[in-house]
Order: sequence, then structure tokens, then C-alpha cells
Amino acid sequence: MAQLFTPFTLRGITFKNRLVVSPMCQYSAEDGFTNDWHFVHLGSRAVGGASLIILEATAVSPEGRITPDDIGIWKEEHVPGLRRIADFLKEHACVPGIQLAHAGRKASHASPWKGGEVVPATEGGWETVAPSAVPFTEAEPAPQELSLAGVQQVVDDFRTAAQRTLDAGFEVIELHGAHGYLLHEFLSPLSNKRQDQYGGSFENRIRLLVEVVEATRTVWPEHLPLFVRISATDWTEGGWTAEESVALATILKDKGVDLIDCSTGGNVPAAQIPVGPSYQVPFAEQVKRETGLPTGAVGLITSPEQAEEIVASGQADLVLLARESLRNPYFPLRAAHKLGADVAWPDQYERAKPRKHH
Ligand SMILES: Cc1cc2nc3c(=O)[nH]c(=O)nc-3n(C[C@H](O)[C@H](O)[C@H](O)COP(=O)(O)O)c2cc1C
Repeated sequence: MAQLFTPFTLRGITFKNRLVVSPMCQYSAEDGFTNDWHFVHLGSRAVGGASLIILEATAVSPEGRITPDDIGIWKEEHVPGLRRIADFLKEHACVPGIQLAHAGRKASHASPWKGGEVVPATEGGWETVAPSAVPFTEAEPAPQELSLAGVQQVVDDFRTAAQRTLDAGFEVIELHGAHGYLLHEFLSPLSNKRQDQYGGSFENRIRLLVEVVEATRTVWPEHLPLFVRISATDWTEGGWTAEESVALATILKDKGVDLIDCSTGGNVPAAQIPVGPSYQVPFAEQVKRETGLPTGAVGLITSPEQAEEIVASGQADLVLLARESLRNPYFPLRAAHKLGADVAWPDQYERAKPRKHH
């Protein structure tokens, strides 16, 4: 029996298999609104058999967008478009999830196919905020250091976003604490040089993320799972470490977090990263083993056998696919056939389902 196609339950939500579409920016929104692109892109992957789709980094405030083309949830008007997507996913037995995000000092950049550079204020960009006035690269303008009131505003924005996420019918929230965005910037001593209660010691650096988790849990119901994506290491001397990730996960477990999605890197441009198949899986394994918290594995996972091995060996509970899911929206349906698991195909596609004896 393929372990990849066994159900998995967190709180009141059951995922029909272990294959998840990893959050992926589409850089296709205007003023934060989802549109037909998002609906078709996400809907296709629900039809393709994923058990959970986590919508792309969704900005909790306009200045928290990575690019002007990101989707957002900073106003009520964003809710109906998001609800349409969530409803469609649920109709296809796919759990709708959303990644709530603030890009911090990595905000106000152009989308990749528009060059990816800093967008100046004159061209619709904005001044970025961060724990400290340390730019991501020396070529970029320094972000503004958040005041204590600014930090509180961030917490409030995540809480409000979580309430809207619930109103839109989503069933999983993933807080984006990875890839050098705002919450990760607070965690890492490479980007957090603060002298107040949000900087310095481990306890101080994790404070903002812990407060965001607590605020989210005040509005996110008991029966719905809460994930946190972290970069389990900065891959850099003096940066955030795997040991700190384990210590953080232990604390988050007590605060109502149900799963740690283990990515790495993104906070400093010069990191030396040993990229290769499954290269981040050991972090998911370590966090799971040392904390007992469920984990998600992500990064260069591209074949059904590889995904099966990760789940069957107990390294992680969920497998997140990003680029492979772009190449093949029907990956879960195809993987089931390859691994000999019988899964339901959409009624409309039933006649195309491969039979053993054909
Ligand atoms: C087009 C694209 C957009 C992405 N956007 C996000 C995002 O919004 N949030 C996030 O946490 N990771 C994002 N990522 C990273 C992926 O979720 C994933 O962690 C990474 O691509 C490694 O997985 P893969 O090897 O399966 O692609 C993005 C990746 C791609 C390719």
C-alpha cells in the first residue's frame, strides 16, 4: 500500500493523501485581487488530485507584498474572489489553504519576468520595513526599522487576515516564516539587529512569530490546522540554525501550531546551499523526530517514488511540490497509478483513468 495515498488528519481536517501544492506566487494580481488566472491555475491542481493546495504568499498589508502583482487579503473586498477558489477546491475534495505573508525588506520588487529589481516609489513601489535598517543586498535601499507600534500593527494585520481567511472558507493557514521575509527577518541574527524585546536573544527574535501565532489562534478555530513555514537554516555562519528551528518548533507546538513546513535559506544572498534532490528533507525529519510535531518536506521532490519514500520512512507527513506541480498539474493522479493506489478521478475525467488491465 502506497503510504503517499493514505489519509492524514490534523484537528478536524482530513487530507485524502500526502501530496500538497506548495505555495507559489503567480505575480498575476492587481491591487491584491485574485482573478481567472488564479482560479484556473489552482482549480486545475485540485482536479489533478492534490489533497491540499496552499495559495501563494498572500499579503496581510499592501506594503507586505513581494511585488505589486501579489495577491492580498488586506481588505474585505479581497474575500469573495478567494472564497470562489476555496469553494471550488472543496468541491473537488481538496483542502483549501492559504499562506499569509509579509515580505519585509524583500517587498517592493518587480515580478521575475519584469526584471525582479527594486521598484522605486515613482513607479508604484514603496518603502519597505524590517526588524532593522539592514538591506538584503548592498545595492538595495535600506528598509525602515519597524517601531514598536509598527510591530504591533503587523501582529494586528495577521490577526485580521486570519479572520478574513476563515470568512473566505479556507481550512488551513500557513504563516510564512521562511525565505527571508518579515517573520524570518526577525528570527535571524543576520537581519535582526534590534536592541529591544524583539531582538538579541533567541527568545526575543522569535517573539514576533510567536505573537503572530497567538493572534492567529485567537480567531482561527480549534478544528482548523495552523502551519508555519520556516527556513530551517540560513546556510550561513552566524545565521539561524537547525537547532534553533527545533527549539522554535517545540514552542510553537504549545501555541497551537500543527505542522512545520521545512524550507531553507532566502535571508542572505551569499548563502552556500547544497541544492540537490530532497536536499531539505533532513530538516523536516529532524524537526519531526526531535519535537514530535508533524512536518512537511519540500524542495526538489519530483517523482512518485521519491515522495513515497519520504512519507514511508517517516521523514515527513506531507510532501509539498512546487515546480513539479507546475510541470504536471495531474501529478497526484499519475503518481497513484504508478504506485498502484486506486484513487478517485473527477467524474468528468473518469473515462481516461488508467486501468490495470488496459
Ligand atoms: C513560481 C514559484 C513561486 C513561489 N512562490 C512561493 C511563495 O509564494 N511562498 C513560498 O513559501 N514559497 C514559494 N516558492 C517556493 C516553493 O514553494 C518551493 O518551496 C520551492 O520551489 C522548492 O520546491 P520545488 O523544488 O518543488 O520547486 C515559489 C516557487 C516557485 C517556483
